Amino acid sequence: MVHGGAMVDVLPGFRDFYPEDCALRNYIFSTFRRVAGGFGFEEFDGPILEPLELFTEKSGPEIAEQLFQFQDRGGRSVALRPEMTPTLARMVGARAASLRRPIRWFTVGEHFRYERPQKGRLRAFYQMNLDLLGEKGVRGDGEVLAVLISSLRAFGLAAGDFQVRLSDRRLWFHFLSSFGVGDSSTPEVLGIMDRMGRVPLEITVQRLQTFFPTAAAVEKFLGAASSFCGCGDLNSLENFFSNLALPLAMERLGEWRELLQFLGALGLADFVTVDVGIVRGLAYYTGFVFEAFERTGESRALAGGGRYDDLVGKLTGISLPACGFAIGDVTLGNLLREKKLLPPPSGGCDFWIVFDGSAQAAALGLAQNLRLAGRSVLYALTPGLSMGKQLKLADRAGAKFAVLFGEESGSDGRCTLRNMVTGSEEIVASVHLVEKMTCPV
Ligand code: HAM
Repeated sequence: MVHGGAMVDVLPGFRDFYPEDCALRNYIFSTFRRVAGGFGFEEFDGPILEPLELFTEKSGPEIAEQLFQFQDRGGRSVALRPEMTPTLARMVGARAASLRRPIRWFTVGEHFRYERPQKGRLRAFYQMNLDLLGEKGVRGDGEVLAVLISSLRAFGLAAGDFQVRLSDRRLWFHFLSSFGVGDSSTPEVLGIMDRMGRVPLEITVQRLQTFFPTAAAVEKFLGAASSFCGCGDLNSLENFFSNLALPLAMERLGEWRELLQFLGALGLADFVTVDVGIVRGLAYYTGFVFEAFERTGESRALAGGGRYDDLVGKLTGISLPACGFAIGDVTLGNLLREKKLLPPPSGGCDFWIVFDGSAQAAALGLAQNLRLAGRSVLYALTPGLSMGKQLKLADRAGAKFAVLFGEESGSDGRCTLRNMVTGSEEIVASVHLVEKMTCPV
């Protein structure tokens, strides 16, 4: 909306970050960084703008439709990054020979998708991505799942608040092969299944017809898929596949058991539910896939990820198994707000210096020394305010202490230290005050 040409609103799906929003964002990022560090992951970053084909070829059709894309002034086709995984794959591939494996990397950054803005979905949002590359066994999947769960727990969320729904594209490959759908068509069929809940059934049926010989075959497949998706635990999956007599799927379920045991040993089994209805919209996943949801499942996903063993090879020619996830800041911020799990606003400063003009040198000298000692220090910028007025400002700013330089202050820098909470006062020499500041306020 433009008011008389003066005011231009923020674009739909984009956000202004006021200081309290930045405080929340910083809290979310620093909590994630702490947890990722605890699992030995290192931070990296990449460009926000990338060649268009990095995403059109690697992310899959859904993301390709949502790109912010344009031609730069040099005529290159470019896009704002909608996700981090292709950039990561390129970066790791370029140094694959020299990186210690498994490679444990994470990153925090802004991403852009031209989606219809709605609750939990914006056009500009932050993701915390974490990936482990160079390990093909299920402990790799287990480790990234452990970081995801531990990150969400670090915000105070419990198993009653969120669940990670675990699925497996490998099982889907086996399941689809029993219907004659070959590996090369599987990503497309899974893309259709991923969007199934969001479009009328006729559209899904129509889309599937390309991959099945007859309408009856599609119907039969959808019936079986519904039973497959109804398996809510490992035992039901085992029953389902033993009935279908698919030995490769049975073998794969052994890896499921290993993964769940690994998570159980880390004390994280309660946070995971089996839900093969999760197939993920991105094209590059090859194995276990998962999404984290708020427990009621009403909101959009908090996080999503999985294994993508072929992406680095396709981009760089260097084969490197990989798995990882991204947590979004929008749904997570909404959930923390709802559950009242936001940290109290930090606000306030450590010291407010109250002084009249004659004491300016002593007062500002002390302010700088306190800042050098790591304290936050404020004072009035408007000259000539009374001491009483300055104290009011200190109070309003939430200062823990006021330091008063009045007429009684000697040339030795004596001042009055006032505790703004209790109102108690003591006379101190400003040098001693700075010395004391090696201890916490
Ligand atoms: P994704 O499922 O597309 O996965 O996104 C991960 C998370 O980012 C979502 O669960 C959601 O929280 C957040 N997100 C996605 N789109 C939006 C949006 N328009 N508005 C707000 N939040 C959004 C990926 O991006 C994969 N690259 C993750 C990954 C990393 N897989 C392996 N490594």
